[in-house]
Amino acid sequence: MRQLFDDVFLLEGQVGTRPIYLPVLRGKEGVLLLDTGCAEHVDNLILPGFATLDIQPQDLRFVINTHPDSDHVGGNAGIKRWSPRALLCCGDADRKMIDDPSELFRYRYDAYRPYGVFYPDETAKNIRRDLGEAQPVDLTLRGGERIRLSADWEVEVLHLPGHSKGHLGILDPRNRVLFGGDAIQGSVYLDVTGKPALCPTYLYPESYLQTCQLIEHLDIDYYVSCHWPIKKGHAIAEFCAETRAFVERTELLLKAEGTTELRDACLKLGPLLGAWPEPIHLELVYAMAGHLGLQ
Ligand SMILES: [Fe+2]
Repeated sequence: MRQLFDDVFLLEGQVGTRPIYLPVLRGKEGVLLLDTGCAEHVDNLILPGFATLDIQPQDLRFVINTHPDSDHVGGNAGIKRWSPRALLCCGDADRKMIDDPSELFRYRYDAYRPYGVFYPDETAKNIRRDLGEAQPVDLTLRGGERIRLSADWEVEVLHLPGHSKGHLGILDPRNRVLFGGDAIQGSVYLDVTGKPALCPTYLYPESYLQTCQLIEHLDIDYYVSCHWPIKKGHAIAEFCAETRAFVERTELLLKAEGTTELRDACLKLGPLLGAWPEPIHLELVYAMAGHLGLQ
């Protein structure tokens, strides 16, 4: 665990070979946890972290999911079991998928089966395990809401769509930081040793670029995400530029290749777009489906 500011901590774990960072904001009026990791992270990351910080079940007031992915919502049921009075929140547009892991699997991870792109059985089984048990959401947010954590500490919910329709972030003006989840993704996800592990996985290029522009213009000093190193000062604009360049390059390459077939687009563009392992090319399916107007 890492302390970022007074009463702001980052739980540092791993999802497969990649790092995962879960922010904890410890207000005097209540604690806010941003994302719950995969199902296993409740017992092996979040609760040990809370124990270190002396956070009790009754202290946890807000659990906010940034978006519907297994490494961000999988611990929802486990956390609510530990702290039944905590309010589980997510973006309004993501509610159906977060309420029900089978909906999430069907409409996110298995959405491209008609195009011949889907996960092998073993991987699908692991995704379902990581998604955890169903846990209905208590409250949905659309951006603009303010949450008081202490008498002198208020944070704001931002709507940062693109990776999902309802993706949320938390703006903390006191510390001049945005906790952005996976809202923008640069050109690659790196593993814990710094090697390329995964391609960007945005779904909606247009809103993703608008989110990128919004982040670029925020009056902040730090950008804290769930899988990338903390960006400080000018590194925020650089990360936004890297994010935008990837989207634009993908669009140009798609046009140049002239392919409109989803699987073919992933396999052709994969080697041109990044140095991740070869099986990862098919993970471009999320972005390609967006660029090809299929979702
Ligand atoms: Fe993630």
